[in-house]
Amino acid sequence: MSSLSPPSKRIWWNEPVESVELFWIALCVIWGLIMTFMMPYWHVTGKQNMSNEAYRTTPQMFQEKTQAMVDKYTIRTETERNFPVVKPPAGSDVYMIARLWDWWPILELENGKSYRLHLSSLDWQHGFSLQPENLNMQVIPGYDMVVTVTPNKTGEFSVICNEYCGIGHHKMVGKIYVR
Ligand code: CUA
Repeated sequence: MSSLSPPSKRIWWNEPVESVELFWIALCVIWGLIMTFMMPYWHVTGKQNMSNEAYRTTPQMFQEKTQAMVDKYTIRTETERNFPVVKPPAGSDVYMIARLWDWWPILELENGKSYRLHLSSLDWQHGFSLQPENLNMQVIPGYDMVVTVTPNKTGEFSVICNEYCGIGHHKMVGKIYVR
């Protein structure tokens, strides 16, 4: 018998389990347990997955809140598509929209100040990944994902999408400035 030919004994499920099979089953169970343990362990020690809050919202509500922030605190525009660069006051709620295929707007934050960063999607699932810091968070339509951030390094940071979201996924890049 091989993986290509059918088993010679048709009623194969009454046969005793081979020891090599038992070994693989045991290995899979142990590996499964290790991976299950790694999820909470890595959350605490890996510093990649932020502890966030999540609230119900709608794409329309989230867009309105983001637009209100953009209308109030835009300091300049960038890129050929005139993306607003928004500098909200330190300590305030800042919003970033994920949509096919943008992160909008560009944020400019102050080093050492805390902000409540809100993320939501207007269409379907995206993944917020702040580079090169490698902070990651799921962004899901209908949910306002909130995380308190305190930038501790100045510079220009990229936000890339790490959840495959279609033909423009690889071009879904946003920006956060820390000054
Ligand atoms: Cu958005 Cu991939």
